[in-house]
Amino acid sequence: MTKDFLTLFDLTSEELVGLFERTDLLKSGQSGLPLEGKTVALIFQKPSLRTRVSFEVAVTQLGGHTTFLSQESIGIGTRESVHDVALLLSRYCTAIVARLFEHRVLVDLARHSTIPVINALTDLSHPCQVLADLYTIRQYGKLNPGLTVAFIGDGNNVVNSWLEISALYPLHFILAAPKDYYPNESIVRRARAAGVSKIDIVNDPMEAVRNADVVYTDVWTSMGQERETERRKKAFAGYQVNEALMNAALADCLVMHCLPAHRGEEITDGVIDGPRSVVFDQAENRLHVQKAVLAGLCAPGAIRHDTKKVRGISA
Ligand code: CP
Ligand code: NVA
Repeated sequence: MTKDFLTLFDLTSEELVGLFERTDLLKSGQSGLPLEGKTVALIFQKPSLRTRVSFEVAVTQLGGHTTFLSQESIGIGTRESVHDVALLLSRYCTAIVARLFEHRVLVDLARHSTIPVINALTDLSHPCQVLADLYTIRQYGKLNPGLTVAFIGDGNNVVNSWLEISALYPLHFILAAPKDYYPNESIVRRARAAGVSKIDIVNDPMEAVRNADVVYTDVWTSMGQERETERRKKAFAGYQVNEALMNAALADCLVMHCLPAHRGEEITDGVIDGPRSVVFDQAENRLHVQKAVLAGLCAPGAIRHDTKKVRGISA
C-alpha cells in the first residue's frame, strides 16, 4: 500500500484482494495487538457516528488509543496551518484519520505528514465506506465480475468512491441522477479510462434498477450543503428508493445506504427496514475493513493471511 489511504485510486486490484483477506481474519477475531502503545489522531471537521466510533473501536481492538480532535479544538487551517498540524501530529502519533470538507486539505495534510493519513470522508470521496460496501456485497455472495450496482440520487462523495473502486473491480455501475447532480467529471473520466468496468449515468431510476444486484442510495443533501436543502428536495423528488421502485428491481437484490438516512426522503421506512436491506451489515463492516486498512498502513506484515485458508475477493 502507499503511505496514505486518500482515495481508492491509491489501491491496486491485488491490494484490494489482500485487504479483504486481512479483513476476513480480523473479522474472525484474529489480530494480535499491532497498534499496542500507539496513538491514532482523529481529525473531524464534520459530524460523524459510524466513522468516528468504528475507527475508535478499530484502534482499541488493535491495541492502540485514539485522540479525537474537532475543528473547534484544533482549528486546522485557521488556528494553525495544515502544514504545522501535520508535522506536529507526526511527532506524537502513528496515523491520522481525517474527515474534512476540502479534499485538497487532506492531500496537503498527507503531503506534510510523515505518518499515514486515512480519508474518513471529504466533499470529494468516502473510500472507507465503499470498501466496506464491496466487502458486504462479497459477504452476501454477490461479488462476481459484472456485478451491477445501481446508485439512485446525488452524484456525491460516495458515488465518486464507487467510481474509484470500479477501476479496481469489474462491475457495471449505473448512477441515476438529475443532470445537475452528476459526479466529479475527472473521476468519471479516470474510472472509464481504467477500462475495468462499465459506467453508465442516466436520469431514469427505473431503468437503473431493472437488472441491478444492488440498489444503493444516500442523502440528497450532504454535510456542508444544508443551505441547498429545499432546492435539492425538489430536484430529487423523483429519485426516492421506495416500494414502487423496488418492485421494478430483482427480487433478491440488496438495498444499501451508507447512513445516516433521511427516512421518508431518499428512502422509505418500508425499504430500509425491509428484507433486502443490508444497511447495518455495511455499517458493521466499516469496523472490520478499517482495521485491515490501519494494520496495512501502520503495521505492515503484522496480520499475515494464509491465502489457502481465506477466501479471495470472490465470494
Ligand atoms: N456512513 C458514515 O460515514 O456515517 P457517519 O457520517 O455517521 O460517520
Ligand atoms: N454523502 C454524505 C455521506 C455521509 C456518510 C455526506 O457527505 O454527508
